[in-house]
Amino acid sequence: MNYYHEHRSEYLEGLKAFLRIPSISTLSEHKPDIRRAAEFARDELARAGLAAELIEGDGNPLVYAEWLGAPDKPTILFYGHYDVQPPDPLDEWKSPPFEPEVRGDNIFARGACDDKGQVYIQIKAVEGLLKTTGRLPVNVKFLLEGEEETGGEHIEAYVQSRPPKLKADAAVVCDTEMFAPELPTICIGLRGMVYYELFVEGASHDLHSGVYGGAAPNPIQAIAEILSALKDRDGRIRIPGFYDRVVPPSPKERDAWARLPFDEKEYTQNEMGARELTGEPGVPLFERLWARPTLEVHGIRGGFTGEGAKTVIPARATAKISTRLVADQRVDESIRQFTDAVRAATPRGVTAEVRVLHSGEPSLTNPENPFIRAGAQALQETFGKETVYIRSGGSIPIVGVFDRYLGVPSVMMGFGLPDDNLHAPNEKFHLPNFYRGIEAVGRYLEILGA
Ligand code: BES
Ligand code: MN
Ligand code: MN
Repeated sequence: MNYYHEHRSEYLEGLKAFLRIPSISTLSEHKPDIRRAAEFARDELARAGLAAELIEGDGNPLVYAEWLGAPDKPTILFYGHYDVQPPDPLDEWKSPPFEPEVRGDNIFARGACDDKGQVYIQIKAVEGLLKTTGRLPVNVKFLLEGEEETGGEHIEAYVQSRPPKLKADAAVVCDTEMFAPELPTICIGLRGMVYYELFVEGASHDLHSGVYGGAAPNPIQAIAEILSALKDRDGRIRIPGFYDRVVPPSPKERDAWARLPFDEKEYTQNEMGARELTGEPGVPLFERLWARPTLEVHGIRGGFTGEGAKTVIPARATAKISTRLVADQRVDESIRQFTDAVRAATPRGVTAEVRVLHSGEPSLTNPENPFIRAGAQALQETFGKETVYIRSGGSIPIVGVFDRYLGVPSVMMGFGLPDDNLHAPNEKFHLPNFYRGIEAVGRYLEILGA
């Protein structure tokens, strides 16, 4: 549509304004920025021609908007998140994270791809149709949250209460990646996750490691022992029963994955910057990334990490650990299994306490669903190439929540690229994908309305 082309520079300026708001949900000092980002999205939706409001509750505000002028047509629920990850390490950014900068075909800023750029795509797609035709081909609702990056606890409670407002036929989630540049992609599966904090305590206070070493329990050593009891050197998780419900991909899906255009050396050396890949021997890479559960340690805190040497046996230490789950694993069951395994692996002399910070179920959608098929068609028409179906190793908890409580499938058409540096320094969004994303989502609504 010409309208979309003509408004590109306006879209870019609007996106920059959105990206300038440091709406970091994990850091409480950014609460005012969270609110500003929510208001920004609400105002954009209102200007686009929807009835828009903030839904206030215990957590960060939800942004809700609707246009319901097509009573005999389906209803699409757009989802996205306006919160972002912290930007650190700051000194690795080539331009400041909250001062968006266009370099070449990319816009660099925290949240450019995850997920403000993609939320903006949805808003502008709808706005373009409303401004040019005065109406929409289908009914449209928006539900945006500001806590996705911290587990999305409050939106889950809200959806669980099944408010009539959220009644819809399908959700559209633009928060995933394309498999490769120019390759239109629909994601049909996400891993779930449980994020743990492990608190280990030994003596009541720090001890001289010479005077007491040989007799005193060491919580950091204990964490190392617990971790190696939970996962072996091949990357296989040793928690009893953990794999029992894991559903292997079908032969058809395996074949499709094997046909994806992929250069493993490029992926390893350039995209990851690693020497070699690790993980379960004999399990193909995409299966390891998309269809197998994982256990990762994110940080260990405790003891002496300052300059020089200090001989101390720390009294306590903590570790941040997460597991990623795949269909049909269940969060509750896997928490019990994890907690039991930690207990069994805890060495003498220390106590270990497991706390769950947040969790989300895995999700897997049937690609034969007509709303997904229409999404593939819209992408195909816009990008001029056949759409591929993939899964992703990342997690978007709301997808499982929509499925369970609203009974709606999520159409995950994402416009990120594998090198967009999500959660890392120099996050970017590929501007051609930004503009084409707007067109693709607009086209999608047209196809659904026809
Ligand atoms: N958009 C990402 C998830 C994602 C990234 C899906 C790439 C597919 C491809 C999302 O914002 C995210 O980062 N989710 C978190 C989970 C959350 C519960 C903290 C994640 O996956 O770590
Ligand atoms: Mn995201
Ligand atoms: Mn994210």
